[in-house]
Amino acid sequence: MEKVFKSSKSEKRALKLLDKNTKKILSIGISTGGSAELNIARKCPQAQIVATTIDEKGLQFSNAQLKNFKEAERIVTKIEDVSKKMPYGDNTFDFIYARLVLHYLTKQQLEKALNEIYRVLKSGGKLFIVARNNKEWELTKPEFIISYNEKTNMTTYYEQWKYEVIRTRQFLSTQQLQEILISHGFKIERCKEYKEYLYTDYERTNKNKSSKPNYLTEVVVTK
Ligand SMILES: C[S@@+](CC[C@H](N)C(=O)[O-])C[C@H]1O[C@@H](n2cnc3c(N)ncnc32)[C@H](O)[C@@H]1O
Repeated sequence: MEKVFKSSKSEKRALKLLDKNTKKILSIGISTGGSAELNIARKCPQAQIVATTIDEKGLQFSNAQLKNFKEAERIVTKIEDVSKKMPYGDNTFDFIYARLVLHYLTKQQLEKALNEIYRVLKSGGKLFIVARNNKEWELTKPEFIISYNEKTNMTTYYEQWKYEVIRTRQFLSTQQLQEILISHGFKIERCKEYKEYLYTDYERTNKNKSSKPNYLTEVVVTK
């Protein structure tokens, strides 16, 4: 039987923003089981959606889930690294969804990715970004920081709810993220910082309530 995954707070905000007549959508970093992409397909019944990832196992899991849903006919899933040149023409997508993915890129990779995202986004199209920001709780705890690479702007640290889990991410302030987007030609439509309890399990049933909520930046930009 197919599993049902809950929508996150930031995913719901993106769904609200989406116009139901949107036709071409790119989701960078497919969600667990393709659940966000299914919700996007339901909100936009005419849309063709491309959902990418660099995680082969995650892709197989998502494909296995998606095959149970008729909306999956409109969702193409694939391995594709957003920091590399993308195989789409200029001005292809009306909407690009990038929730909790761009913070995995180094400063240099993010530059390349934003050049490509700008190129493939249609003029007047929207890019929705959610990334962890530099007010994350771990960053206030020197004992959680393992290293910081000045060249790449990447921080390696112990993630809060599993002390043994080591993560590497690029943390940007909301101001820094906006400035980078503006420097790539995007126009800021809205920007908000908020806290969100991220799920700790694949099925999105357990929120990380025993620990601190995550601090996120959401930016919506247009081309
Ligand atoms: C934390 S998950 C977020 C998934 C989804 N966007 C959501 O909101 O639930 C991160 C996803 O981004 C993908 N990812 C990480 N680096 C990537 C890259 N360079 N290019 C494309 N996808 C990437 C991962 O494989 C994973 O699917």
